[in-house]
Amino acid sequence: MNYYTFVAPCHFGLESVLSGELKRMGAENVSAIDGRVSFTGDLHLMARANLNLRTAERVLIQLGEFEAKSFTQLFDGVRALPLEEFIGRRDAFPVKGHSAKSQLHSIPDCQSIIKKAAVERLKEKYGVGWFEETGPVHQIQFMILKDQVSILLDTSGAGLHKRGYRRNSTEAPIKETLAAGILDLARVRRDTALYDPFCGSGTFLIEGALKGLNIPAGIARKFAAQSWDSIPAAVWAEERTRGLDLIRRDAKFAAYGSDIDPAAVELALENAHKAGIAQRVRIRCRDIREFRTVTDTGIVVTNPPYGERLLDQKAAREIYRLMGRAFTPRDGFSYAVISPDEEFERNFGRRASKRRKLYNGMMKCQLFTYE
Ligand SMILES: C[S@@+](CC[C@H](N)C(=O)[O-])C[C@H]1O[C@@H](n2cnc3c(N)ncnc32)[C@H](O)[C@@H]1O
Repeated sequence: MNYYTFVAPCHFGLESVLSGELKRMGAENVSAIDGRVSFTGDLHLMARANLNLRTAERVLIQLGEFEAKSFTQLFDGVRALPLEEFIGRRDAFPVKGHSAKSQLHSIPDCQSIIKKAAVERLKEKYGVGWFEETGPVHQIQFMILKDQVSILLDTSGAGLHKRGYRRNSTEAPIKETLAAGILDLARVRRDTALYDPFCGSGTFLIEGALKGLNIPAGIARKFAAQSWDSIPAAVWAEERTRGLDLIRRDAKFAAYGSDIDPAAVELALENAHKAGIAQRVRIRCRDIREFRTVTDTGIVVTNPPYGERLLDQKAAREIYRLMGRAFTPRDGFSYAVISPDEEFERNFGRRASKRRKLYNGMMKCQLFTYE
């Protein structure tokens, strides 16, 4: 089977977590740059990555890289790529992308030049004058940075944060991929007792259970490249079986969630059922003032309300004070809190043992860890 270079974008700050995931699943030449990780492997690895990665946003095949300072160079560079290896004569191949710090900065112009070059290449290869584009979508993505062009093909389709278990959400849910990265940084494992006293729609609890039981994050969904003729169905079937075989139903993982809002509790329970891990989580309607643990050891991972989005900042800071009282330093327990508030530690009442910069969407946050 051929080897390819792949690129997986991720949240800023999670590159090392994603690199670790990739190495553990057999990826080679894993290399992290800002907000993405590149790696090499065969198509089995592509399917494995889509099915299992918890912190990647998508998996793209890199078709080529070249320098372009003019539209002619862009056109020639794209026309030289072996697009027909993946794109069939009836397939749809829309183009999108972005450019930064480059001479070619007009996105619509780049889009249309790349499309024209792709059409020229495929016309030559298939000997046809017109493409109906009624087949499976092969989304072409371009990234131009400092005049270096990367042409990629999106194998995932819908973003990988769409696991298939969350149809509904509360007001400010954390993205599944970011939640999974935080759980990794907080060292949630197969025997962890995980607590989230601001559980909202239950993302940390569910992602924690999927991780603890080693359930592939994408087992309940489909991927764009599953309908591509160029990839044998057996590749996906084998990787699916491999993923299912690695599930550890004997893991001791358990999660305890609570939230002051009864609607959130109901939703979190519903989502846990959809994710197939409801027997591993207990969710109660409870104010942070009544937070208590029921195990000898545990890891608390949570994103409390942010002033900007849910309550005003004063109310949010009062909650941080309550958290400081509830999350007492004691053997066997650690706490990880994500917050955009620069004043979090002062209100919580203690300096964190570690601080890590993370982005929740466009919002600059920090992960405060107390060990
Ligand atoms: C930022 S959201 C958490 C989102 C959650 N991580 C998710 O993925 O859906 C904060 C949650 O804190 C809850 N909350 C607000 N005040 C609370 C309090 N005093 N005690 C417990 N929960 C509270 C809200 O109902 C909301 O669901």
